[in-house]
Amino acid sequence: MAEKKHSHKKSYYNDIALRLGHQLFGVEHLHYGYFEKGKKPTMQNLPAAQDAYVRNLLKYIPAGVKRVFDVGCGSGGVAVHLVKKKLDVTCLAPDPYLIEKTLENTGGKVGTITDLYENLNPEESGLSPYDMILMSESCQYIKVVEGWEQNRRFLKPKGYVLVADFFRIKELDRPGLSKSGHPLDYFLEQAEQHGFKLKKKVDITKFVAPTMDLYQETITEKIFPVFGAIFEIVQRRYPLIYKLLRWMLGKKIEKLHLKYSNQGSEVFSNYKAYMVMLFQKAS
Ligand SMILES: C[S@@+](CC[C@H](N)C(=O)[O-])C[C@H]1O[C@@H](n2cnc3c(N)ncnc32)[C@H](O)[C@@H]1O
Repeated sequence: MAEKKHSHKKSYYNDIALRLGHQLFGVEHLHYGYFEKGKKPTMQNLPAAQDAYVRNLLKYIPAGVKRVFDVGCGSGGVAVHLVKKKLDVTCLAPDPYLIEKTLENTGGKVGTITDLYENLNPEESGLSPYDMILMSESCQYIKVVEGWEQNRRFLKPKGYVLVADFFRIKELDRPGLSKSGHPLDYFLEQAEQHGFKLKKKVDITKFVAPTMDLYQETITEKIFPVFGAIFEIVQRRYPLIYKLLRWMLGKKIEKLHLKYSNQGSEVFSNYKAYMVMLFQKAS
């Protein structure tokens, strides 16, 4: 078999975290929640808010779109709705577990590919061009230039790219801030350079940012205390091992605490913007 251009290794952590969220909290979708006005951001309300996110996203699919490439499909949360709309859908994710879930959730009604988007070659894959490429919270994982190059190759002339994701809108000017997300200006500039016209640009940050408070709260108030308790047991029972672990992991743990105390909605909204954007290929 030919050597792959990129390996899945870098996205492993992402997929493991997504799986854990699914297993621990029963979270079905792997995207943010869209908390409509008056909806309290709680773990109980998250599934409904994630459904609202999909409902909002579907509004931006242009009329006439029939064939959709769902790039970074997660567990198929959006694909399920695309199938319900009688669209012809191909789902792509690098993680076999997520592809399996996608098949399960869509009742096998989608085509699937287990790979990184960057590795695909339209000629070798035998995929005919799509009317629309969907990147629902997967755009941030794919390098900007490679992503736009692939979008050009997999779309029909005048085809669309629908992106829903967060982007960086301000320089990260202090330690502990999350680096995720492409710089928005650069992403838009590269879209244009690759022959894509921006048709719609909607900022939904205020609706999705509360998800970050839930995320921060879950990590700092649920996950950290579990690890804290495990460390305490090790400290009491195996003081030497504890000393060794502290020496090895102390700095890393401090960094994690700093990182996850900087993940709330306020910090998020200050540095990131969550955008829904529709692009059209010029020709
Ligand atoms: C946050 S999840 C979003 C899932 C789904 N689109 C949704 O909205 O629920 C990100 C997805 O991107 C996928 N992904 C990460 N890196 C990728 C890459 N280089 N090519 C294709 N998919 C990738 C992950 O496996 C995961 O399925």
